Amino acid sequence: MKIIRSQNEIMSYCNELKLKTSFVPTMGSLHDGHIRLLEEGKKYGNYLISSLFINPLQFNNQEDLANYPKNYNEDIKIFEKYDVDLLYFPDEKEIINSNLKKINSGNQGKILEGKHRPGHFDGVLTIVNKFFEIIKPNYALFGIKDFQQLCLIYTKLSPLHSTTIIPVETIREPSGLALSSRNKLLNDDQKLTASKIYEGLKLLEKNIKEDPKINCISFLENFYKDYNSLEIEYISLENTSIFDENERFISKLLHNKNRVIMVAAKVGNIRLIDNILIS
Ligand code: PAF
Repeated sequence: MKIIRSQNEIMSYCNELKLKTSFVPTMGSLHDGHIRLLEEGKKYGNYLISSLFINPLQFNNQEDLANYPKNYNEDIKIFEKYDVDLLYFPDEKEIINSNLKKINSGNQGKILEGKHRPGHFDGVLTIVNKFFEIIKPNYALFGIKDFQQLCLIYTKLSPLHSTTIIPVETIREPSGLALSSRNKLLNDDQKLTASKIYEGLKLLEKNIKEDPKINCISFLENFYKDYNSLEIEYISLENTSIFDENERFISKLLHNKNRVIMVAAKVGNIRLIDNILIS
């Protein structure tokens, strides 16, 4: 695996590449969800590029940034094991400087997650746009777990680049808890509580099949109220078309699933999100 830290070097290296490239951006602290992204990336392109960069612009809370798990040495071993051809591991100063083109996530970046994390999606889009500019990947892969992030990258960035966005399913622990780098910050009891987020969503999915008119929000509120240490921030049922823009239709990206139920909750100080898609 080749590791490049300098921006000029990665730009000229990627410009010379004559292969179809897949790109998986990461903030490190890799888990099986990232591994699935890398494995899927292999299926699309024939040259796999990943990045390792904890993007300070997407943290609206400095404490969250300071606590974000960092395991660079372990991560590099995993990238190698999963056949990443090129790792971009930039130095913060080369990325975050006055030349950085800012991307505004607009109104769709201010709702749901964006309402609770002001500026988060501007930060995500700014960095992913920067990486797309210098790497120019043919394909880029993002997890459905970060649903709003996936939608915004698809609708706002893919029209600016010749990069095809590939959504990848959420990978879960046996308990159902969606994998996230933040799970490393949970103890066993907290993990059990956190797994209730998906337990509720899964039960709802089953109940929708029996009664399509069920009130999804009340159902979940009722389910979650039994778990005191699960502090629900929001439960939302949305038509995915709220994110459609620039001729990019979310339901097409997601095999005609056109509704999403999104949940954000805190367990202790750790904020977690999850969702399910329904037709
Ligand atoms: O999903 C993430 O890990 C980050 O938001 C991303 C896409 C790597 C941008 O920093």
